[in-house]
Amino acid sequence: MKIAKNVNNLGTELVYDIFSKTKKLESQGKKIIDLSLGQSAESPPEHVIEATIKALRDGNNGYTVPNGILECREAVSRKIQKLYNAKVSPDRIFIMPGGKPTMHYAISFFGEPGTEIIYPDPGFPIYESMINYTGAKPVPYNLTDANNFNINVEKILSSVNDKTRLFIINNPHNPTGSFAEKSVIDKLAAGLSKFPNLAILSDEIYGRLIFEKKDFPTFLNYPDLYDRLIVLDGWSKTYAMTGWRLGWGIWPEKLLNKMFKFCVNNHSCVNAAIQYGAIAALDGPDDSINNMVDKFIKRKNLMCDGLKKISGIKFTEARSGFFIFPNVKDTGMNGDQFAEKCLNEAGVALIQGTAFGKFSLDNVRINFTTSEENITQALDNIKKMLS
Ligand SMILES: Cc1ncc(COP(=O)(O)O)c(C=O)c1O
Repeated sequence: MKIAKNVNNLGTELVYDIFSKTKKLESQGKKIIDLSLGQSAESPPEHVIEATIKALRDGNNGYTVPNGILECREAVSRKIQKLYNAKVSPDRIFIMPGGKPTMHYAISFFGEPGTEIIYPDPGFPIYESMINYTGAKPVPYNLTDANNFNINVEKILSSVNDKTRLFIINNPHNPTGSFAEKSVIDKLAAGLSKFPNLAILSDEIYGRLIFEKKDFPTFLNYPDLYDRLIVLDGWSKTYAMTGWRLGWGIWPEKLLNKMFKFCVNNHSCVNAAIQYGAIAALDGPDDSINNMVDKFIKRKNLMCDGLKKISGIKFTEARSGFFIFPNVKDTGMNGDQFAEKCLNEAGVALIQGTAFGKFSLDNVRINFTTSEENITQALDNIKKMLS
């Protein structure tokens, strides 16, 4: 049996390997505190669950149109208008089975041998995986501890050449918890406007989870870029609905027909009833998001205060999202060794930095959105492990 070469180029999300290891250790009776997965310990709002159950009882069991039911696309459009004062026609919105497929489709749209795609490293591992799958050359831009994981706009722009088809940004950023402010995105957008053939994928999945009283600088604030801008967003992180597999993508007018075909060829449509729950989430109150962010700030502070007391661990405080990305070099271990030891000796699952790219050998990613009890216990266990 011979498989296509591209399949061998696929990477993975190591988090799923750790998840499997964690489940195996738990089945052997070990207690593991999971700080590895990219999800919170919160639950979706009750009114979202109720609306979904009602939609099922109302008989929404069939296929829907591939780009998502109109009411759901209108709800996304309304929410964008309300949050960002940006006008996005429902025609440009695709309701997707999660945020990730927009990444997969966008990279497939532009990547092929002989082309280049610029992406963040450290970064969500599927960017590089999918770029390699298409045969395009991955061109990483590095976010460093030394620069508090901020992006360097000049460096990014200097890596664009006539082979570059797509530029990927993830703001707020996984795995570092960094957040590029409006002044930075203004500068970046101005620079990108000078490359009219370059497409942009803005992954804004953590856009509602910012820990400062600052507006989120979505790329939707730059209408001049709309003809080549793809925005990835969704319900997974904002409404604690990772397992529902529900997201949206916003696409340029001239790619809509092709994107429609991509959906037909791949997933057909998103689960019908869940799209009604999705509307309830967007049209309902934002209390659950605000409460969740307040909890995350408390938990992040608890985690950071605890980590400060553990020698050998240095970190930049997260400003958004679910994660911090400490450097553990001074413990005498690299990130891989530290994560392995934590799982086996401290009963704490976290992820080595190399899961997010080649520059983060000495980092680990820690999810701080679990309960305060779990955070306290995990910190205690790690402290003991290192003593
Ligand atoms: C940066 C980033 N983009 C996209 C996704 C995908 O989100 P979803 O679970 O909705 O597919 C994730 C999930 O962890 C993520 O961290």
